[in-house]
Amino acid sequence: MNNNSNCNLLPSYKEELKRGRQVNVIYDDIIIPKSLTHFPYKKTFYIETLGCQANYRDEEIISGLLTKAGFMRLDDYQKAQILIINTCAVRENAEQKVKGHLGTFKALKQKNKNLIICLCGCMVMQEESVREIQNKYPYVSIIFGTHNVTNILNILDNYLTSLQMIIDVPSFSENIVEKLPDYRNNNFQAFVNITYGCNNFCTYCVVPFTRGQERSRLEKDILRECQFLVNNGYKEITLLGQNVNSYGGDLNDGSNFAHLLEAVAKLKIPRLRFLTSYPSMFNDDLIDVIAKYDNIVKYIHLPVQAGSNKILKEMNRHYTREFYLDLVKRLRKKIPNIHLSTDIIVGFPNETYEEFLETLSLVKEVNFSSAFTFIYSPRKHTYASTIEDNVTYEEKVRRFKMLKETLEANIIAYTDKMIGKIYPVLVEGFSERDKTMLSGHTEDNVLVHFQGDETLIGQIVNVKINVSHVYSLIGELING
Ligand code: SAH
Ligand code: SF4
Ligand code: F3S
Repeated sequence: MNNNSNCNLLPSYKEELKRGRQVNVIYDDIIIPKSLTHFPYKKTFYIETLGCQANYRDEEIISGLLTKAGFMRLDDYQKAQILIINTCAVRENAEQKVKGHLGTFKALKQKNKNLIICLCGCMVMQEESVREIQNKYPYVSIIFGTHNVTNILNILDNYLTSLQMIIDVPSFSENIVEKLPDYRNNNFQAFVNITYGCNNFCTYCVVPFTRGQERSRLEKDILRECQFLVNNGYKEITLLGQNVNSYGGDLNDGSNFAHLLEAVAKLKIPRLRFLTSYPSMFNDDLIDVIAKYDNIVKYIHLPVQAGSNKILKEMNRHYTREFYLDLVKRLRKKIPNIHLSTDIIVGFPNETYEEFLETLSLVKEVNFSSAFTFIYSPRKHTYASTIEDNVTYEEKVRRFKMLKETLEANIIAYTDKMIGKIYPVLVEGFSERDKTMLSGHTEDNVLVHFQGDETLIGQIVNVKINVSHVYSLIGELING
């Protein structure tokens, strides 16, 4: 233990594993501690988020609370008084990025000893990571976890009182905190949490440890948040959960995802999405709701992870290749214009070449519109990381490239077919590559660039596709 640290609470894997805790919903008002109203330095902060949409939403919650306490968010970390890195632990490279940032921040801290450097997010939910930070990065001021983001103002207050490293990382949460600030990074697209945590324990995955027990928000609270977004002119809502299909299972009041999705669709948000679906829990009621409402986008992210039954079993995914292919068939039968994307892991321990070929053949059979592909990365304390692996990294990279080529062939065929057709596009802003162009996504999540003026940002407009660059399209605005 570092003597300089005011170690309130370290994460514990044993606690993170436990399930079945009773959950309370909290509707308290936000209280701003005095030390923050009388903050002695510039009231500015910088926050950088790695990882998935769950972290993105946490970033908004942290930013909202700090803004409420009078802090201003800056895009330039060199000018901010509080620096926050919202970390991810899903793969090794996510953790490496954090260490790079900490190196940069060290130089700033040397110039300004009052700088407050904070680490939060999934990486700090791991005991070893926290110990490493204590030992190698003693200039970090505050470490807090995924279960207490809503407590950021009090954690800062504790730091300002002690001026010693604060480690406040509870390993579980018995609370769902409502009445959060309305702060959003974007004023036409919003993420809305429906569940927190995950109970699935896929054998490769760290998320059930870093995000804890699955907890569903009450339907009335989700609907209130969505109604507020609709009233404020939002064009797109994405309902978020590590496994949206299990929504409500813990509430024991009959709530379920199909019902919730229908209720949100009825609020008439123009585009309604949801992430992430777990194949074995994707039932026919849900397919019917998606088919029934025009505003539920006909694009589903349905991670398959692998095409071999043996590997799926070892991953503890509760479905077979045949089940997945049948689900795709059922979806396409009831919703002929449905598009599918997926996540795939290459190189699970001891995956044979033949087993990998089963993934390739599944990819060809399903014809995904897009896919996120990953090389397996061993994560501490997961079951898969204890398996001795006989496949070399070079071989995994070779297979990964083969998979990419196969997927790309599908995607080229798919985007080529879009040429000459007109699609509604939600305009998100200026194109990153060419600031004279606008860009946005079609319902099926294809990136489109086109000429147009700034006033269109946040609107859904019709764009005719002229050219395909595989991962993005060039089009022209129709009907001004
Ligand atoms: N809850 C979601 C997303 C979890 S993380 C789901 O179940 O799909 C996003 C993706 O990261 C996963 O779908 C998986 O493909 C990938 N992933 C998770 N752990 C990984 C690991 N240890 N190595 C490589 N990829 C991993
Ligand atoms: Fe991880 Fe599986 Fe849970 Fe997704 S469903 S977060 S892959 S354990
Ligand atoms: Fe990363 Fe945590 Fe999301 S590990 S992928 S930020 S849930």
